[in-house]
Amino acid sequence: MKFPFFRAPDGREGGPADPTDVPMMGGQVLPAAGTHPDASVSESMPAAQAEPAGAMAGRIPSVTSPSGPAGPTKIAARDVSVFYGDKQALFDVSLDIPDKTVTAFIGPSGCGKSTFLRCMNRMNDTIQGARVTGQILMDDQDVNARTVDPVLLRAQVGMVFQKPNPFPKTIYENVAYGPRIHGLTESKAEMDAIVESSLKKAGLWDEVADRLHSAGTGLSGGQQQRLVIARAIAVRPEVILMDEPCSALDPIATAKIEELIDELREQYCIVIVTHSMAQAARVSQRTAFFHLGRLVEHGNTEEIFTNPRERRTLDYITGRFG
Ligand SMILES: Nc1ncnc2c1ncn2[C@@H]1O[C@H](COP(=O)(O)OP(=O)(O)O)[C@@H](O)[C@H]1O
Ligand SMILES: [Mg+2]
Repeated sequence: MKFPFFRAPDGREGGPADPTDVPMMGGQVLPAAGTHPDASVSESMPAAQAEPAGAMAGRIPSVTSPSGPAGPTKIAARDVSVFYGDKQALFDVSLDIPDKTVTAFIGPSGCGKSTFLRCMNRMNDTIQGARVTGQILMDDQDVNARTVDPVLLRAQVGMVFQKPNPFPKTIYENVAYGPRIHGLTESKAEMDAIVESSLKKAGLWDEVADRLHSAGTGLSGGQQQRLVIARAIAVRPEVILMDEPCSALDPIATAKIEELIDELREQYCIVIVTHSMAQAARVSQRTAFFHLGRLVEHGNTEEIFTNPRERRTLDYITGRFG
């Protein structure tokens, strides 16, 4: 059965510049807003480079996430390479992703962040000509094993895209859809309870409780993104992958999603791709920096942002990249 939860992301679609990269955060000077790389900047020109020369140079975003990773390894990538036809997009990436933690993937456009994210729930299976080598282990189980049903895997490893993609159905039906096709409920009362609890966990319940049967597409962008998160939560995932989830949202909606991500990390393993250095610093405890299809370095967010080991990382996070 086709599983419309997992419609292929439109990676080429542009969004506005990240509105949350305001220069002030917690009294600290932060980098100015970066142009969204997918929007108007060519692949060869990374986000940070789009800044006027020197605008960001030398400034490192402050880190507000106080705690380090909280959980054991949830996903372990081992020598993962991805090819699109003859072209290799990802080279031997090995990375442990901890549970109950937000891990941010950063790096210039085209460096393979989305490609790597898609390895974790086998979304690359849906791309013709894509080939993945190496291993992705989730709770020590190979997600590419023949015994793994990708549809069930994608319920366990939910995905949220840049552009909110609610189904053309009511708010209630958007959330009920997954539990229904997965047979998670036996009665209307049980379904009502799942819908309510999922919307509550996604921080949307109070705003929609009185209009559950109106169209999900009638909500604001930020509400739609929380609806999509509620839809993912409804099938009891363990991992939530977010590919630039705030790129199309205004600053207030972005702040709400960031707050939500911080709450969700108590229960889930979360991976977020972001072009906003400030956002990575705000929401993640771990950061992985990719460049040209390779994982350059990874570690605690605070370390990556204050004391990176690699020159390329420093250059990227300070906007000197070139
Ligand atoms: N469906 C696809 N078919 C062919 N090449 C692709 C496809 N998706 C991504 N690529 C290529 O793989 C590389 C990595 O892309 P992507 O993972 O989208 O990077 P990022 O998310 O970091 O911007 C880029 O060179 C991109 O052009
Ligand atoms: Mg991408």
